[in-house]
Amino acid sequence: MNNDITKEKVFYALKGIKEPLMDKELISLNAIEIEVENNFINLLIHLKNDSMKYKDDIKNKIEQKLKNAFGDSFKGANIEFNEVENYQTIRKRLGVNNSQSRKTKANFSYVIAITSGKGGVGKSSIAINLAYSLIKLGYKVGLLDGDIYGPSIPTALNLEEKLLTLENDMIKPLEKDGLKLVSVGFMLPSVDTPLIWRGPMLHKAINELVNEVDWGNLDFLVVDLPPGTGDAILSLNSAVNINGAIVVTTGQRIANVDVMKNINMLKSLNIPILGLVINMAYLLCPNSNEKIYLFGQNRFKELIEKYQLDLLAEIPFKLSLSNDIEEGLPTLAKSNPDNELYTIFTELSNKIVKKLNLARLKT
Ligand SMILES: Nc1ncnc2c1ncn2[C@@H]1O[C@H](COP(=O)(O)OP(=O)(O)OP(=O)(O)O)[C@@H](O)[C@H]1O
Ligand SMILES: [Mg+2]
Repeated sequence: MNNDITKEKVFYALKGIKEPLMDKELISLNAIEIEVENNFINLLIHLKNDSMKYKDDIKNKIEQKLKNAFGDSFKGANIEFNEVENYQTIRKRLGVNNSQSRKTKANFSYVIAITSGKGGVGKSSIAINLAYSLIKLGYKVGLLDGDIYGPSIPTALNLEEKLLTLENDMIKPLEKDGLKLVSVGFMLPSVDTPLIWRGPMLHKAINELVNEVDWGNLDFLVVDLPPGTGDAILSLNSAVNINGAIVVTTGQRIANVDVMKNINMLKSLNIPILGLVINMAYLLCPNSNEKIYLFGQNRFKELIEKYQLDLLAEIPFKLSLSNDIEEGLPTLAKSNPDNELYTIFTELSNKIVKKLNLARLKT
């Protein structure tokens, strides 16, 4: 068991601490900023003016929770407070607003995060094909490889030799087939260079890859996130407003456990969940065209019911989807793509566009 303190573990440890005058958790109000370096925790707590008088009480509660969670690994925390007028102003202070990121050169209509909690369920494959599918529908799309530990976009798009360049102090994204691409893989000297990022570096890297890149005007920024850890989603959430998250799973029991953790984190951060994509859901029987569900349907139906999620797509297990990426030409990037996958990804894109547009109309 790894006793290292991570941002995600701190996040979970601090769940339950409420804003003293409201029936809401401070974590859900984005009112706690967390940084962790060498197991030392730095916290900045934003509190409304009239709640500032409870800060000693909050500090005690936090210290107690951290001690309970980390025991001997807990080396102390630096806890500071910042007075705010209301909790909406925190996101503005962090440079995040509804449609724009911090620098004027990047302007995204919608930021979509592809998440899971579980590794190897197909997040990257879905992010890449979804991005191409949105391009085919005529949208301007950027794809950010937020998996800075194991970037997969350079290989999937046959761009392994490419490196990013700077222009006017901004990172210039690569462009392929109209898709703007940024991956930490384009910053490494070779694809097999391992990347050992510590928490604060991960946070900084994600922030830079969103905000220091000359993305231009995009309809969609699709962000492929790494598995397992919630640190990346926490960092992305403080770098930019995430308009919607797609949760990917395979419907295996083991995958569902991690996925539930992921869904709870998205809910705690008030990130809208667009819905569930079940990947490698079924095999199509070549003779009868019958769908044979590899892991049954019960598990993901349970998830859908428990969390009231929309089922956005069921993607079949298809070797061609995997081979196309291995060969550096993703299925949806082809001029004549597999008909079944083309239809599924086009429907998925259309559903996402519809849901996001409806959400915008409501706000
Ligand atoms: N629908 C599918 N049919 C067949 N193979 C698939 C399918 N989806 C993904 N794969 C294959 O499964 C493997 C894992 O996929 P992928 O890398 O997209 O997952 P991931 O969730 O991004 O993984 P990681 O958590 O490591 O980032 C890859 O080899 C990919 O080609
Ligand atoms: Mg991946």
